Formats: sequence, structure tokens, C-alpha cells
Amino acid sequence: MANVIILGSQWGDEGKGKIVDLFADRFDIVARYQGGHNAGHTVFIGEKKYVLKLIPSGILRPGKKAVIGNGLVLDPAALLSEMEALESAGVKVTGNLFISNRAHILFPAHRMMEKMSEGREGRISIGTTSRGIGPCYEDKTGRRGIRVADLLNRDFFRAQYDSVMEEKVTIARTFGIYSEMDLAAIRDEYERFADRIRPMVCDTAVLLNQAIRDGRSILFEGAQGTMLDIDHGTYPFVTSSSASAGGACTGTGVAPTKIDGVLGVSKAYITRVGGGPFPTEALDAAGDLIRKRGNEFGAVTGRPRRCGWFDVPLLRYTAVINGFDSLIVTKLDVLDEFETIQVCTGYRIGGQEVCDMPPTVGEIERVEPVYESLPGWKTSTFGVASFDELPGRAKDYLAFLEERTGVEVGCISTGPERNQTMVRQGSRFEKLVRG
Ligand code: GDP
Ligand code: IMO
Ligand code: MG
Repeated sequence: MANVIILGSQWGDEGKGKIVDLFADRFDIVARYQGGHNAGHTVFIGEKKYVLKLIPSGILRPGKKAVIGNGLVLDPAALLSEMEALESAGVKVTGNLFISNRAHILFPAHRMMEKMSEGREGRISIGTTSRGIGPCYEDKTGRRGIRVADLLNRDFFRAQYDSVMEEKVTIARTFGIYSEMDLAAIRDEYERFADRIRPMVCDTAVLLNQAIRDGRSILFEGAQGTMLDIDHGTYPFVTSSSASAGGACTGTGVAPTKIDGVLGVSKAYITRVGGGPFPTEALDAAGDLIRKRGNEFGAVTGRPRRCGWFDVPLLRYTAVINGFDSLIVTKLDVLDEFETIQVCTGYRIGGQEVCDMPPTVGEIERVEPVYESLPGWKTSTFGVASFDELPGRAKDYLAFLEERTGVEVGCISTGPERNQTMVRQGSRFEKLVRG
């Protein structure tokens, strides 16, 4: 069986959780490689709804191992409450979840530090999830982060924690963003968390590489999306980790030579949460209809998602960055009622054609999208699970996306449930996922 990466090809919320859960049964291990509890992956199994934030969506498949890789930032309180919610819903987490000893620990002070960028005059507010993700990654790259292995070493942890927190309090007081917190009590609390997570902690790079040697297969689960990637996204309106395919290797310790394929999840349209440029944003009734039909509200923060039309240049860009073998197009059913569907097939700035994704927010904001209109199918596709049963115009729409993006559409989703999905026969997707 293959080792495959599944990740978001847009600005997140593409439906990765549903897709990972659905295909996790074909793999032995599901490994998350970046992000933290800023992610929100909603999965429906029958009547039951699960929202996964830190724990890989593969946990919902009994008997599968789920790995939190070294590339994540881990808020132990968020992890333990997610675990408890899952266990009380009948999902077995203990014994199936493995946490990297190299993942970085997120503290309440990281949330306070987020106000440095989000709440101060003169700084560009990114519209983050306010979970402290960015400041935790700042500590990681600043080489003062506290990792899971450090948390488990009581003496080392105490000394490191006290010095790092002292620094944060000084900065917070200086910049007027300090919020009262009992640092010693938090330290004690984290020591109790350490005892609770200890049985799940191991060197997950060793675990994953041994599994590969034993012939087991791994599904790497991306959080966020490529356009939120710290290097390749719409910087600075991005998250602080490597959401693109490269992150799967650095975030787990599995070499690129062991990866067999990369699958990109894309909505049949596009959404974005938070600030930042968005060339195909539909600020009219069409955008409202997408939001209403797609129930486009954030799973973590409840914020309304900004909605717009499918963006081919953006997809072509993320296809190159990730080397997509195949695309999974989700939420096709959301477009069922449209008379005409717009697709952005090109970018212009000041009337000039733009071939590559511009690097700066200023330029992306000036992009004039070139649209082509396709006729809508005006028929319900909700729950359709066979390609042959799709209306002709829906097939034409998918063929158009395939032709313009240059990537096959190997899988299509028409509803939140597992069985509301179809895999194209003979596709590269089928080969990678079904072996
Ligand atoms: P993720 O962060 O990429 O996992 O995506 P989210 O879970 O944040 O957002 C996707 C939302 O769309 C979830 O509420 C899913 O249940 C839902 N969803 C996924 N696929 C489909 C689909 O094909 N049709 C519809 N109508 N909803 C879907
Ligand atoms: P999933 O995994 C959509 C966005 C935030 C903000 C920016 C930075 O569900 O697709 P952060 O808190 O990460 O520092 O915020 O990134 N963002 C997401 N948008 N889906 C997500 O996750 C996101 N995680 C972060 O809205 O614009
Ligand atoms: Mg989400």
C-alpha cells in the first residue's frame, strides 16, 4: 500500500476531515504533520458529528493508529478535552494515539502574546483563531520552545518554563498587552498534564519509519491549506506552519523518498476565514448563497467564512507547490441551485496577464480575475455517489476544472457523509488510495 499525503489546496476548510476519515480505513496509520487546535475538521458519521482539532481524523476508524507529529504545536488542555469528548462519544483514543516527543508545547502565555500582532495599533491584524499558534511557533523557531520531551523532564521543564515565561511577561507589560495569569499555578497544571500524556508520547519518527519498513501504509493529514502555508501562502495572512506537502516530511520525520503520492482537497468553489487578499471573493448574493448552502461558518471560531468562485490560477499554483497527483472536489452539491457558475481562469493586474502567483498581498489585492461562465445544472447532486448519476452539466463543470487546472479530479464529494462520495474508476486517485 502507498504512503499518501492529503492536504488542503485552498485556504483551509476544504473538507479534509471528511476525506481523511473516509479513506483512513485503507491505511494503517494516519499522521498529522503541522498546525494545532486552530484546525477544525468536521466529520459526520451517520447522526453523529465530530469536530477534530488536534487529533487526526483517522482516530474515528477503530484500530487505526493516529500520530501527532513533531511539526505540531500542542496545547495539552485542548488535547485532553478533545480526547475526553471523543472517548465519551465512544471513540477509543487511548492506545491508538501517539504523540511526538518533539512536538512543541503551547501555553496560555502564547495566547496573550498573540495580542502583539492582533490587538495593537499599527500592526496588520491577521484575523487569527486566537489560539496562540503563531507565538508558539515563534518560540520554536526562536529556539526557546518547550517540547513534549522537555515537559516530561520535570527539572528541566521548571527551569525552562520560568525563564521563558519571565521574558513573555516583561514583553507583555512593556507593550500593554499583559493579562493577569498565575504562572506558577499554570506550571503545576502542565506538570499534571505531563503525567496524563506521558503514556502516549514516543519518538513518532521511529514509529512511522519502522511501520514503513514493516510494509504498513501511512496517510499524512494536512491541516489548514496551501494558501495558508507560512512560505507559499498569502504572507503575512497565513498560519505559522508548513501546510503544504513538504511539511509532511519535516513534520513527521518521514523522508520524501517514502511518499508515493499527494492528493489535494478543493471545494467546488472557495472560502477563506480571517483577513487577507481573496481575488475571487463574491461579495454579492452569490457569495451569500454559497455561504448559506455550504453552511460556511468556522468550526473553531464560528466566524462566517468569506465565499467566492473557484480560482484556477490559485489551484494551478498549489498543484505545482504540492505536486498533486489528483484532486478531490468537495461540496459540489452546494452549487446545485446556481443558474450560472463563474470560474476564474486567469489573473490580470492593470490589464496585464499575470502567469505566476504574485508574492505580495499588495499585488494579489490588485488582481482582476478573468471569469468564464458555465451553465449550472439546477438539479440536486446531494448524496450522489456514482459519477454516471451526476447531471451532464455537473460533469462538464468537473471536466472544465480538470482541463484548466491540469490535474485529474479523482474523487468527488456531494455531502458531508462517508457514502456521499465517488471515486473515479481508473484514476490515479483510485490507484493511490485503493492500491
Ligand atoms: P476541513 O477543515 O478541511 O476538514 O473542513 P471543515 O470540516 O472545516 O469544513 C468542511 C465542512 O463541509 C464540514 O462541515 C463538512 O461536514 C462539510 N462537507 C464536507 N464535504 C461536503 C460535501 O461534499 N457537501 C456538503 N454539503 N458538505 C460537506
Ligand atoms: P482547517 O484545518 C481555515 C486561518 C485563520 C487566520 C490564519 C492564521 O480547519 O482547514 P492562526 O490561528 O493559524 O495563526 O490563524 O489562518 N486558519 C484557518 N482557516 N481553516 C483552518 O484550519 C485554519 N487554521 C487557521 O483564520 O486567517
Ligand atoms: Mg476546518
